[in-house]
Amino acid sequence: MIKVAILGYGTVGSGVFKILKENSNIITGKAGQAVDVKYVLDLRDFPGDPCENVLVHDYNIILNDPEVEVVIEVMGGLKPAYDFVKAALEEGKSVCTSNKELVAKHGAELIRIAHGKNRNFLFEASVGGGIPIIRPLNMHITADRIQEITGILNGTTNYILTKMGREGADFESTLKQAQDLGYAERNPEADIEGFDAVRKIAILASLANGKTVDFEEIYTEGISKISAEDFKYAKKMNQSIKLLAKCKNEENAIVASVSPRLLSPDHPLYNVNDVINGILVRGNMVGDLVFIGSGAGSLPTASAVVSDVVDSVRHLNVSTTMTWSEEKLQLKDFAESKKKFFVRAKAELKEIADVFGDVELIDAGIAGEKGFVTGKISEEEFAQKAERLGGIISRIRIES
Ligand code: HSE
Repeated sequence: MIKVAILGYGTVGSGVFKILKENSNIITGKAGQAVDVKYVLDLRDFPGDPCENVLVHDYNIILNDPEVEVVIEVMGGLKPAYDFVKAALEEGKSVCTSNKELVAKHGAELIRIAHGKNRNFLFEASVGGGIPIIRPLNMHITADRIQEITGILNGTTNYILTKMGREGADFESTLKQAQDLGYAERNPEADIEGFDAVRKIAILASLANGKTVDFEEIYTEGISKISAEDFKYAKKMNQSIKLLAKCKNEENAIVASVSPRLLSPDHPLYNVNDVINGILVRGNMVGDLVFIGSGAGSLPTASAVVSDVVDSVRHLNVSTTMTWSEEKLQLKDFAESKKKFFVRAKAELKEIADVFGDVELIDAGIAGEKGFVTGKISEEEFAQKAERLGGIISRIRIES
């Protein structure tokens, strides 16, 4: 029997506890031995809860207990998670986590420490919640150069954009409704400004390329400026608007970004709606692979965490392959990346043609402005032309 400890008894931690109890027979079969929760660590008390008998408030009890082989970190945030996880690994325990902040910031270092002890640092739940994506990248898609990963990696923003698209509502009222229904946090900045998605794409980009992609170097734009009018044009073009997190090999350099994009119906992520996440992986041999499912929520996320626990038990004294070094990956300058742009501007047709040349006009019946699609140009060129034209109301990149 393997003893494990859960750090944090919140949404994910209570889900992990529940799955380890309710699916114990299945998990025992898959892991090859029973997995027993010896401790749950939380600052709070949970009178009457099934975790009550194993609840502790002092991390040192777990750290200093040699019987604990696997530590499950589901507290979130960097403090104290980073110190706790590092100490557990240095103590020779494996760690499974759902913590994307921790993995994006310290992933390579924590993998190195784990491997130095013949142990594992696993983080399937850190991206895409219940969707298997980390293990496929590490273990399965190993014969390919990964050309592109494009993901809808944030459920909150996908829910808001889907609702705006369906109901024609504006951003602020849709966000408020999402908050009232518990789909969006009271402080929604990390989700709506893309800070959550950028950490997740940094993790995927690091695994796909074997070096560390610094999330702070990734161009990041959220959805707070997307309006009901933008969706009128999208409808006219038969396109959806999605917050896409991307890393792509463009002329032998990796470009990464998080930004709202217009998608046509033939794109694999066009119909990924509501809180669902979707990830397209394009390999140079295998072609397109698409992963779709619950990107958040207690049980889907906990299911991915427990899959890591099973993996850790199966590989108790051997490190499973995880190619992610601490060497930094130099990203291509986003300003050089080319694409078409959809633009709304208060300008005359002649002025638009003078600056952008041949454009495709889109008429969504909105007075006092023009909507158009540019040719394929770089971010830098677009910014220069937009400044020359003036009167830009909004612009959305077009996914190709
Ligand atoms: N806030 C995240 C989301 C939760 O909305 O997808 C999962 O990381």
